[in-house]
Amino acid sequence: MKFFADTAEIEPIKELAATGLLDGVTTNPSLIHKSGRDFMEVTKEICGIVDGPVSAEVVALDHETMMKEAEVLRKIADNVCIKVPLTIDGLKTCKALTDDGTMVNVTLCFSANQALLAAKAGATFVSPFVGRHDDNGFDGMDLIRDIRLIYDNYLYDTEILVASVRHTTHVLESAKIGADVMTAPPKVIMALVNHVLTDKGIEGFLKDWKATGQSII
Ligand code: E4P
Repeated sequence: MKFFADTAEIEPIKELAATGLLDGVTTNPSLIHKSGRDFMEVTKEICGIVDGPVSAEVVALDHETMMKEAEVLRKIADNVCIKVPLTIDGLKTCKALTDDGTMVNVTLCFSANQALLAAKAGATFVSPFVGRHDDNGFDGMDLIRDIRLIYDNYLYDTEILVASVRHTTHVLESAKIGADVMTAPPKVIMALVNHVLTDKGIEGFLKDWKATGQSII
């Protein structure tokens, strides 16, 4: 499963990229606002740090303006992935852009039928929001299971990009279901490494190693 960082903050992106575990980045207008940075500048900077897709979201609601915004965004770098909302105009824009060889992430997906439409529109990625789904009394993971089943039934190439990930269990469940990608805040990705027995094991080994009086270098 590919790991994308869901942030527009440069330092955590650099830190994750240095681990070799980072496959891409997703941003949205709220994350850009939180970063306090200029959209174009920060997107360009992120695209220079990671080789993989960097999602940059349009804010227009109509197809024509979405296409104009996408034209500006895709000039930022070759690895920009245009993010469009799951609306009829967003799907029209998705079809036009992917037909032209541009990567598209169809976002704000909350139903399996919406994901079916995104695949039919040729989306590179579809972003079902599991955390927001959970917040509203649904099971976000049921949505991922349904989308996986439908995409496998018809061999759609669209990658399931699990978004709105809030904790490490979301990551585990996404991997068990066979989601292609998950995007999470850097702190959730970093937390995947934590295990009390790993810490305890290191402590024990170091204590015994010290007692040998040896050194490796
Ligand atoms: C990423 O593509 C989404 O915009 C993001 O995961 C949404 O996360 P949130 O529900 O925590 O805002």
